[in-house]
Amino acid sequence: AARKASQSILGAALNRRAFSATASNASKVVVLGAAGGIGQPLSLLLKLNPRVTELALYDIKGGPGVAADVGHINTKSNVTGYEPTPEGLAACLKGAEIVVIPAGVPRKPGMTRDDLFNTNASIVRDLAKAAAQHSPDANMLIISNPVNSTVPITAEVFKSKGVYNPKKLFGVTTLDVVRASRFISQVKGSDPANENIVVVGGHSGETIVPLLSQSGYELQGQQRDEYVKRVQFGGDEVVKAKDGAGSATLSMAMAGARFAESLLKAAQGEKGVVEPTFVDSPLYKDQGVTYFASNVTLGPNGVEEIHPVGKVTDHEQGLLDKCLKDLKGNIEKGEKWAKENP
Ligand code: NAD
Ligand code: LMR
Repeated sequence: AARKASQSILGAALNRRAFSATASNASKVVVLGAAGGIGQPLSLLLKLNPRVTELALYDIKGGPGVAADVGHINTKSNVTGYEPTPEGLAACLKGAEIVVIPAGVPRKPGMTRDDLFNTNASIVRDLAKAAAQHSPDANMLIISNPVNSTVPITAEVFKSKGVYNPKKLFGVTTLDVVRASRFISQVKGSDPANENIVVVGGHSGETIVPLLSQSGYELQGQQRDEYVKRVQFGGDEVVKAKDGAGSATLSMAMAGARFAESLLKAAQGEKGVVEPTFVDSPLYKDQGVTYFASNVTLGPNGVEEIHPVGKVTDHEQGLLDKCLKDLKGNIEKGEKWAKENP
């Protein structure tokens, strides 16, 4: 019993050391859309992360309430909720290292992510404008759908203000890898925590391309097709089950918090931090596809290295070909809209 007690005291001391070592780096994280289905659990997870020193929460409704609530949790970070005014938004963004945007409407059954374009494009554009002005050096993490278009919209806004840095703009596609890893574990009976399936492309339907072969798996026929479909349409599974009450929020909050944690780790000097993400990418530029999700090594300045897609099977190549066609259209739609609606 005495040994157990001394081990747990040692464990606590080590945890405290890890905490104070990381907490010495100031890291302000902003959530825009903090009172929403994703925003609330994401804010909770960020409050639990000792790498975050300041949490700034903004929403057109309810930001201060969420901030007062998570602000009572006994971790060190300071939490502030901001009023939904231009001044509130400006103060919220000032000095940010990471700005996460889950603001916007979610799908209802029967809708595609592209059906959200008309509403969410202007929400993301306006928030991106504020970020370009008040936190031009922050890492921008775009969650709002359709990601394939909202990321190019954000880039166009930053370009128009002369502050675009392609290394600091990320479409959050982590949830696709989280799902792909969970679903293969259900097929294979493996531990999902040990799975990290590569998923490339974009974030909607057939633009989501899981590359199982790169994890040494070779599903065939119906089993393979069902797996691919489940990864590509995992979001629809949740939208249908929620039956009009929105789309994935809890798993998305986990995925968003994981991505933010990876960026903070990289910013604080950890090497070899790799996450899948939708970025301004050279991989298919020759085919007119200017943004693409693949594994990316993160560093103190954001994107450090974009990994190539690597070796794929003929079947996976077929999936990639379909993906590129749809993705090109989604990207061009976002860019065109942003230019016509500055
Ligand atoms: P929600 O409706 O529950 O929350 C959205 C929040 O955004 C609301 O609190 C709303 O007040 C706020 N908001 C709206 N306009 C705003 C503005 N101009 N400024 C600040 N806040 C604003 O929706 P949700 O379930 O949290 O989903 C949000 C978005 O995330 C949707 O577009 C959804 O499709 C997308 N999403 C993306 C992924 C992904 O993998 N990238 C996963 C799940 C959901
Ligand atoms: C998801 O993948 O869960 C999100 O993009 C939300 C959606 O509309 O499916």
